[in-house]
Amino acid sequence: MTAYPVTMSVQPEVRGYFDSATNTISYIVKDPATDACAIVDSVMDIDYAAGRITYEHADRLIEEISRENLRLEWIIETHVHADHLSAAPYIQDRLGGKIGIGSKIMAVQEEFGKIFNEGTDFQRDGSQFDRLFEDGDSYMVGEMPCFAIHTPGHTPACMTHVIGDAAFVGDTLFMPDGGSARADFPGGDAGTLYDSIRKVLSLPDEMRLFMCHDYGPNGRDIQWETTVAEEKANNIHVGGGKTREEFIRFRTERDAQLAMPKLIIPSLQVNMRAGEVPTDKDGRPMLKVPVNGL
Ligand SMILES: [Fe+2]
Repeated sequence: MTAYPVTMSVQPEVRGYFDSATNTISYIVKDPATDACAIVDSVMDIDYAAGRITYEHADRLIEEISRENLRLEWIIETHVHADHLSAAPYIQDRLGGKIGIGSKIMAVQEEFGKIFNEGTDFQRDGSQFDRLFEDGDSYMVGEMPCFAIHTPGHTPACMTHVIGDAAFVGDTLFMPDGGSARADFPGGDAGTLYDSIRKVLSLPDEMRLFMCHDYGPNGRDIQWETTVAEEKANNIHVGGGKTREEFIRFRTERDAQLAMPKLIIPSLQVNMRAGEVPTDKDGRPMLKVPVNGL
């Protein structure tokens, strides 16, 4: 396995912003030594029934960053989300910063480009993003060293982003009592997800882990922060030495019973374009519904 350049001595200030409409947590990650920051997994609001898009959640992040005069350097997407829309371009227009995602986005664009019958003007080369990360690629936020770990399984392009002693796992893991995300989307695979989770759990025990989602299982309050040690010991799907075979059996049976996320159709069309809403031939923002296509 790749030896990743972990720097536990750098401890970013991490602020989570919970979006109750989609149970997503967006993060502002601030360098304690400079005024630099990054955003991980922003959310654009949609009333899908009405076809209406608004920006309350993204505006919270923008206001926070503006109020403190922070410099936004990166807008990171852990993956092409299927349950909420990214606000990356809206934020970039106002605050700058580079939008980054895993390089396997090209496979995701190929797959969903077919499902949504996109024309040749839809580029499938990831060029809508400013940076495509490969496994082990590093970058900086201010003086904080960061790197990406390829953690496929939920989707082919999933990356975990590690900033100092904080790892943003996307949908690779949920809180220990939430287990793991589904692995049945096109390009998903339960065994691959298990292997990716093992990669994350091979990081130092004290590494802080930040979730992209929490659903407050068994009525507990929403939480989004845990550690590698806690996940290893207590995660209900992979903790306590559960085998790959056990995980695959459980995950496959469970996924077969799950309904599609409510926002999967608009989410995929927007997120595979780095958060841009597609337009029709006259340039008007327009979404499609592929009938029996998913
Ligand atoms: Fe996801």
